[in-house]
Amino acid sequence: MNRQNAWRICGATRTMTFGLFAIMMSFCGDAAAQTAPSESREDQPAETVFKNIQALKGIRARDLQGAMSFIASSLNVDCDYCHRQDFSKDVTKEKLRAREMIRMVRQINEEAFHGENKVNCFTCHQGHTDPTSLAPIVPRASRKPGAEAAPAATEKPAAAPLQSVAKVLDHYVQALGGQAALDGVKSRIIRTEALNGENSESKTVLYQKAPGKVLLVWGSPSYTLWVGSNGKHAWAQDSEKSYWGLLNTPQRNSIMRDSESYAGSRIESQYSNVKVKGIEKIGEHATYVVSGTSPEGTSEDFYFDMQTGLLLRRHVEEQTIFGGFQVQADFEDYREVGGTKMPFVVRWSSPGNAWGTKVSSKVVDVQQNEPIEDAKFEGPPAKSR
Ligand code: HEC
Ligand code: HEC
Repeated sequence: MNRQNAWRICGATRTMTFGLFAIMMSFCGDAAAQTAPSESREDQPAETVFKNIQALKGIRARDLQGAMSFIASSLNVDCDYCHRQDFSKDVTKEKLRAREMIRMVRQINEEAFHGENKVNCFTCHQGHTDPTSLAPIVPRASRKPGAEAAPAATEKPAAAPLQSVAKVLDHYVQALGGQAALDGVKSRIIRTEALNGENSESKTVLYQKAPGKVLLVWGSPSYTLWVGSNGKHAWAQDSEKSYWGLLNTPQRNSIMRDSESYAGSRIESQYSNVKVKGIEKIGEHATYVVSGTSPEGTSEDFYFDMQTGLLLRRHVEEQTIFGGFQVQADFEDYREVGGTKMPFVVRWSSPGNAWGTKVSSKVVDVQQNEPIEDAKFEGPPAKSR
């Protein structure tokens, strides 16, 4: 695969999910000619995996992706604000400036904050390339007494007692159709396409088969990626035949969570520190917020509608070298399919919709309890496909 292709793939991944993106990143570096990245490759220093790392020397290769998403979202720009075709070349003055800024941030934290990550790009930039250094004037007339305090107060509905995690999840399972109905779904094939306005031609087909078998086929007209698991190991392959490999544990877990049939229903067994942390409103809906920590260290919140019991939102905070980076999914348009309910629209958002976030999609077709051969989940399809 030459550079051109590498760029094309990297272009295609603009809209790819975080988990998938992490895999792609392995050949967006100079890994093009290589095959599967081993676990150790990702743990190597970024400067040995990528070509031109100067300011970020010492971070792990796998942390580069999060760092770049963080930077782009802090300035509210796309990758091409600093990069052209080859990510390693220094062709824009913005990239050079950014390198100075990275050094500055590391130095500030080192010298003024005892090495803690207190200052990052967002501290100053707040979603602009050119930070403002002038405090804004707030016209007096528009300032009603107590105006600041008011919005926060209306966020919280009148104090209702918190439920236990078990009760909230039980309500959710009931709302989806009940455990018996859910157990009755032995396999599913879900076809989705990007929501209008997502500027993406991506389509996905998700094959699920109990217990724990998953195959996600992600495709645009020019590119296809298969990511699957037979319940034991997970693997990925793409149509450029440039990649074939087993995924490491964090990649596998994150993909398995994202392609779960009933998002959040197994939060108690999959996460630690699970608790109902409060009540918050999403639009008109009061929700119980159930929080937990994933094995990969992401902090996640699940928002369950107090009335209907359904999951309305999943909020994920990923850790980057600069600080937290938040991504959120909103689940909408629940419909009944064969006695169980599922959201037909999943809307992903993140600050500035920086690259690496997931694409919002709508379900176009669902088939349930159709036979799917086990072989489909065993490993990458033959390379000729
Ligand atoms: C504000 C500028 C800026 C933005 C926006 C930006 N980067 Fe970077 N990027 C840099 C700088 C600076 C470096 C070099 C870091 C160093 O010297 O340690 C870099 C390095 C990289 C590298 C390593 C290339 C190599 O082989 O040396 C990759 C890959 C990369 N960026 C990908 C991305 C992606 C993907 C995005 C979009 C999410 C992005 N960058 C957004 C400034 C930026
Ligand atoms: C202490 C505040 C501060 C922090 C922290 C900070 N910046 Fe800046 N940055 C500025 C200021 C102020 C400017 C504008 C300077 C000027 O006008 O010459 C700027 C300018 C820039 C520019 C040039 C913008 C342009 O269009 O010319 C880039 C790129 C940039 N910063 C990237 C970053 C990145 C990436 C980080 C985090 C690693 C970061 N900055 C952190 C204050 C900050």
